Amino acid sequence: MSIKILGIETSCDDSSIAVLSDQDILANITYTQKIHQKYGGVVPEWASRKHLEAMVPLMQEVLETSGISIHELNAIAITQGPGLMGSLLVGIGFAKGLSLSTGLPLISVNHLEAHVMSLLIDEPKLTFPFICLTVSGGHTQLILVKDIGDLTVLGSTIDDAAGEAFDKIGKLLGLPFPGGPHLDKLAQLGEVKFKFPVTKLKNHNFSFSGLKTAVLVFLQKNLKENPNFISENLNDLCASVQDSIIQMLCNQLIDLSKKYKITNIGIAGGVSANQGLRQRINQLKGSLNWKVKFPQIQYCTDNAAMIATVGYYKYLKNEFAPINFSALSRFPIQEI
Ligand code: KG4
Ligand code: ZN
Repeated sequence: MSIKILGIETSCDDSSIAVLSDQDILANITYTQKIHQKYGGVVPEWASRKHLEAMVPLMQEVLETSGISIHELNAIAITQGPGLMGSLLVGIGFAKGLSLSTGLPLISVNHLEAHVMSLLIDEPKLTFPFICLTVSGGHTQLILVKDIGDLTVLGSTIDDAAGEAFDKIGKLLGLPFPGGPHLDKLAQLGEVKFKFPVTKLKNHNFSFSGLKTAVLVFLQKNLKENPNFISENLNDLCASVQDSIIQMLCNQLIDLSKKYKITNIGIAGGVSANQGLRQRINQLKGSLNWKVKFPQIQYCTDNAAMIATVGYYKYLKNEFAPINFSALSRFPIQEI
């Protein structure tokens, strides 16, 4: 008999529910909340309200798509954190209600571990040991993964996340929110003409706030001389900013791969959709003999399939959560 897990993800602004049967994802449906675009960033109160509206229709759609009834499920996996407290509470409240009414056990999942596990969803799966670069709107981490549940954080950002840097700099350039995908598209049309800082910190950590300030100061100076500076140079500005971010990410990844002699490399999180990053990593792959895995885009950005995947492995180990478990807005991988 196959094990069927329902996964629920509501940690930020994506409401997502998935059904997994053993290692196959039968359905993974994500509603990305559009309301935040007009505010230029995620508004936490709106995020929780929109999750609340989404849960029941999402659940119905996922069960219909997967062809599975609630009574065939074995457990409910739900994101415990990190994330926005209100958003987490909506998903957890929904999961607990479902658990109480059906008797299904609950499995609490760390969202960051789930991003790493997105590398094991589609074929060919990445093999252990591997190094995972998780790059999202909220997190930037380098993680050594020796086995399922055996994760060591080797480096992380000390300020902004890589996706946050894309989004904040996108805002400075007048791009819609979230800026990352827009900046990526325009960068493909431009050249690296402007030199922005490429920060390299000790201990394999990252810092992106210096880049953001450097771009701000550079734009202010040039806009004084030419009010059309941004519109006349937009593609090249995007290419130059993107190049700095990619260099910062790849420099630490190369160092760690050499230090630990690990050539299995996974890239997870929303920023792994970035075309420039994919091209650079694919170039490095040849010269450094890397075996590289990028999950499908639907598993890169926040999704419930990755939550169900962690749930599946925890189910095999009988790692269930008590009904009174709490949401954790901060939940480092070290504390799993
Ligand atoms: O993983 P994710 O969906 O949510 C978080 O957990 O944060 O990542 C969202 C982030 C946003 O910052 C978005 O701008 C960025 O991923 N992103 C991109 C691209 N697609 C999404 N950044 C750069 N290039 C892209 N193509
Ligand atoms: Zn995420």
